[in-house]
Amino acid sequence: MIKVAIVGTGNISNMHINGLLEFKDRCKIVALCDIYPEKAEKIRDKYDLGSDVKIFKSHTEMLDSDVDFDVVHVCTPPYVHASISIDCMNKGKNVLVEKPMAASVEECDQMLEAEKRNNVTLGVIAQNRFRNGVYKLKKIADSGLAGKICLARVDSQWWRAHCYYDLWWRGTWEKEGGGPTLNHAVHHIDMLNWIEGKSPVEATAVLTNVMHDNAEVEDLSLACVKYEDGSIAEILSSVVSHGEEQGITLQCADAKISMPWNAKAEVGMDNGFPTDSHNQELLKKLNDYYDNIPDLKYEAHTGEIDNYLSAIESGTRPLITGEDGKRTIELITAIYVAGFEKRTISLPITEDSKYYKTGGIVNNAIHFYEKKSFVENFTEEKITVGNY
Ligand SMILES: NC(=O)c1ccc[n+]([C@@H]2O[C@H](COP(=O)([O-])OP(=O)(O)OC[C@H]3O[C@@H](n4cnc5c(N)ncnc54)[C@H](O)[C@@H]3O)[C@@H](O)[C@H]2O)c1
Repeated sequence: MIKVAIVGTGNISNMHINGLLEFKDRCKIVALCDIYPEKAEKIRDKYDLGSDVKIFKSHTEMLDSDVDFDVVHVCTPPYVHASISIDCMNKGKNVLVEKPMAASVEECDQMLEAEKRNNVTLGVIAQNRFRNGVYKLKKIADSGLAGKICLARVDSQWWRAHCYYDLWWRGTWEKEGGGPTLNHAVHHIDMLNWIEGKSPVEATAVLTNVMHDNAEVEDLSLACVKYEDGSIAEILSSVVSHGEEQGITLQCADAKISMPWNAKAEVGMDNGFPTDSHNQELLKKLNDYYDNIPDLKYEAHTGEIDNYLSAIESGTRPLITGEDGKRTIELITAIYVAGFEKRTISLPITEDSKYYKTGGIVNNAIHFYEKKSFVENFTEEKITVGNY
């Protein structure tokens, strides 16, 4: 039985608890920690976790206590992901940390070093890989049926009301680390890296804030990244998009494949223009292949928690590792730097870049607006986490 502690009992902890409770025969929640311990108590009662579940108001107090646990789920705001994760790993605990993995590439490297040194397992939440549409797009891209990827178009479009950025840690470069490019498109950028199976070598970007004058950070960005083989990806990150249309379209050499699922395939006439009949044979193959991929047993956070528990049980690597989390942060850092400095940025982000270090982004970021007031908590607890 894997014993689990959760640090940060706000919104997203609900997804973690629901996921963990699916696997009652494999894991047990033994401790909850929040700087507002009354929030942890409320969560313990809400899920009827039992009075033996210990409540702590700091993760160090929890680590120094005699409560025994194997895994810590870190569900706090991003600016403390690295410090809490490293403290836990230094005490021999395995860590599953929420997205975004950390506030800098340097912190990602420090977390990876702590994982290795302590011989524990670090996983990073990117739960949308465990969505049928995303997982099946990856499978079909890997099948090679559509040919090599020439252009990826990533739509990370979300909508958040103005008050979303009133929460004390949101909308600040220091505590949230960025706007939707980091906190929302993090999902799609993880998927892009996963599906492409490689990282880009350069990035250009435009950042702006058009709707949220209570946030320092961008609320809209458009990036273009290029791979070594000449292919490109366009990444739209937004919290100003009504309808929240999200997805990934891959224009491959022989066909377009996308999620939500759609396939198109052209063949040319002798003058190079596309035929009216399209490539029906390839379209049939693509649709048959897609239809025959079995659905995932568990989706989203529950799917990732299942995979992470299996990794701990069997001593294997989880699907989403710290290395994956770092690749995502690295690309997002490049997008930010390209936007701040209005120039093309080369990847990877190495130690000699001032943006590699923790504080590099905070100290050099464009402040679109200043945050003049904040709320400690919202009364509404319901959130949505996107479809793809
Ligand atoms: N995977 C997803 O789809 C998804 C969705 C929403 C949020 N998130 C991520 O989850 C994390 C938390 O977001 P949220 O929306 O739940 O925020 P939240 O503010 O609702 O919850 C965070 C909780 O952490 C507590 N906390 C803050 N600092 C702490 C510390 N040092 N030690 C212990 N507790 C601390 C806060 O009091 C709060 O209860 C963020 O990294 C966010 O990006 C992920």
